[in-house]
Formats: sequence, C-alpha cells, structure tokens
Amino acid sequence: MAKAAVLTGIDEPLEIRDDVEVEQPRAGEVKVRMAASGVCHSDLSMQNGTMMAPYPIILGHEGAGVIEEVGEGVTNLAPGDHVVISWVPQCGQCFFCQRDQGHLCEAANTTMLTGGLLDGTTRFVSRGEPLRQMAAAGTFSEVTVIPAIGAVKIPKDFDLKLAALIGCGVLTGTGAALNTARIRKGDTAAVVGCGGVGLNVIQGARIAGAAEIIAVDMNETKLQMAKDFGATASVNAGQADPVGQVMALTGQRGADVAFEVIGLQQTIDQTIAMTRRGGQAILVGVPRMEAMVQVPAFLGLVFQEKTIKGCWYGSSNVQRDVPKLIDLYNKGELKLDELVSRTITLDQVNEAFETMKTGEVARSVISYT
Ligand code: APR
Ligand code: ZN
Ligand code: ZN
Repeated sequence: MAKAAVLTGIDEPLEIRDDVEVEQPRAGEVKVRMAASGVCHSDLSMQNGTMMAPYPIILGHEGAGVIEEVGEGVTNLAPGDHVVISWVPQCGQCFFCQRDQGHLCEAANTTMLTGGLLDGTTRFVSRGEPLRQMAAAGTFSEVTVIPAIGAVKIPKDFDLKLAALIGCGVLTGTGAALNTARIRKGDTAAVVGCGGVGLNVIQGARIAGAAEIIAVDMNETKLQMAKDFGATASVNAGQADPVGQVMALTGQRGADVAFEVIGLQQTIDQTIAMTRRGGQAILVGVPRMEAMVQVPAFLGLVFQEKTIKGCWYGSSNVQRDVPKLIDLYNKGELKLDELVSRTITLDQVNEAFETMKTGEVARSVISYT
C-alpha cells in the first residue's frame, strides 16, 4: 500500500489516499520509491482543466527517487539506483529520438493521453478501480512504476530533493534557453513569467552568455528572485505595458529572444510583440486549448522575419542533459537550492496549489523521507 494524491475531477481538491495498491513493474518498467516531488504549474493545469486528464489520476511529474524493483529485461538499472523521472519517456529508437528530438518521442504520445504506461495500462489500483498516472510519472505517490526509459540514473551523493526539480522545471527552463532558442553570447533575452520554470529560463540564458536578461512578472518577489538568478533588468507587468517597457530597454528594437513562460493568451501576444525583427519568440507555457497565435502574416512575420517557436520539455535529451545540469550545479553555475521555497509533506499538496496561485513561491517540494 502507498499513500498518493489523487485528482478525481476538474476543480476537485486532491484526495490523499493511503490505500493505493502498486503492482509489480512489468517488462521494461521500474518501481521507484519517491524521495521528493516538486509541485509544478502543470499539475495545477490538470486540476483546473487547462490540460485534459483521464480521472481518477495520480498527479505529479517532477520527481526523483530510488529504484526498488526492476521488471523483466531491464538491464541498465538496478535496485538502489537513484533516478530523476523524465515525464517524456525517451525510447532512443523512434523517428524523433533518432533525429535528436527525444523530447518528442513517440512513446510519450500515448502516456500523455491515456495516463497509462507505454501499453496504456496503469499499475495503480484504489477502491476497486485503476488509477491513471500523469505523464508516465505520478510522482504524488510514495511509490510509482514508470517505464525504464523514463528513468535517468544520477550519482547517489546528489540531493534527491534538488534532483526532483531537474525533472521538469529545470530541464524545461534551462533547455528552452540552451536547446530550443540556442541563445548566443551577447544576446538580449526577455523572459515573461518568472515562476519555477521562468527562473530556469533566466539562469539558462545566463549560462548561454546572454548580455541582457529582462525579467517580466507582476510579482515583486519573483522579480527580485529573477535578479538573483541572473536577470539584469526587471519589468513589472502589473504597473505598465510590458511590451512598451521592454522596447524602451532595447532601444525600441525588441529582444533578440523572448520567452513566454506562463501560458496565457495575453502574455503570448506580448511576447511575440516584444521580439525584435529577425528574433525568436519561444512559447514555453502551456496554454488553454482555445489560445491562438495570431500575427499579421506580412507585417508581423514575413517583413519582420520573426521566428515563433514552441518549446516542449526544453527540447531536452534527458540522458544527456540531466548529467550536464548536475555538473553545472556542482561547478556552482546552476542554482537549485534557491528554487525550493517550501518543503512540505504529501498531505499539504492542496495548500501548495493555493500558494502557487498567489505567485509567491518558486517551488513547493514534497519530501517523502
Ligand atoms: N504577466 C506577467 N507575469 C505573470 C502574469 C502576467 N499576466 N500572470 C502570471 N504571471 C507570473 C506569476 O506571478 C508567476 O511568477 O507568472 C509566473 C508563473 O509561475 P508558476 O505559477 O510558478 O508556473 P511555472 O511552474 O513556472 O510554469 C509556467 O510552464 O510548464 C509550464 O504548465 C506550466 O504553463 C506553465 C508554465
Ligand atoms: Zn512541470
Ligand atoms: Zn523515441
């Protein structure tokens, strides 16, 4: 039996159940005893209906833990190994994986839609019915079963609480800057939304050598954190039009690269508008289904030669990027400790959702140990 946080329908608070049965891992799967899980905005997006979910489902997708059992045929992982969970399992063999686009791996299409593992089924049962699991992860559970290709082995001396954050916010944010945008030395970047993911875009931009990094948020606490993470200027979007402010800071040219890291129609429009001629607008935040990208084709796009690019999981190759991020942390170039605003227990997950809505915290992290 394991304790887990279960979403039973849109806008319902998560139910903390301690009667969840976790089956054995099947072939190609591993059972992970969770050490920690971050609470990410995408978890909230599942609860409030921004993202579709089959119910009942165990949420959580940003986690790390220790392998407890391996299924048949798993040779690269063993009980006792420490792992970061990748919410996009990367098979290494499909069309996308072979083209170094493992973040688009075909194996993840079904897991995302069905809330199951690679074969569409789940390893959780509670109160007589199966429980789905978010993004082949389900890290709001003391124990989970995931595809072995969704586990990235890390050194045993690395703090598992920090490792958990790498699993979504850090990979996505730093990856948006380093992989998706490929920021160049001396670039001016603008980052709209400085939450758990946006702060990582900022530090990714700093690592890539951006000369100017303009942080945009409505919350002063976040703008202060943004400076600690490498922003060189800040814009409070609640006080004046953020597009005008970014234009003023860039000699009316706009940013070389602008990132949207919230997922709102308004901030998507603003991000595209504050991108300079020839620059890139990178859309990272997950918007509602109705949100649209609308740009005048000639004057907005062709004549301006703008690139508008989506970003999924920071275009990360997880087996390559997780070790790279750990290395950067060990060299003092990547901040992780500062992302943890609060450490909580699984029982407090609903409070963490409430705190996230206020925009005050970077991350609440559930500790299972
Ligand atoms: N203008 C500027 N900033 C805003 C606005 C706005 N209109 N609305 C919200 N914000 C800021 C908040 O103050 C907060 O700092 O956006 C930030 C969002 O941060 P989080 O809630 O921590 O979200 P995060 O976990 O970073 O995720 C951001 O990426 O992975 C996706 O689904 C996720 O779409 C979400 C996005
Ligand atoms: Zn996430
Ligand atoms: Zn693949």
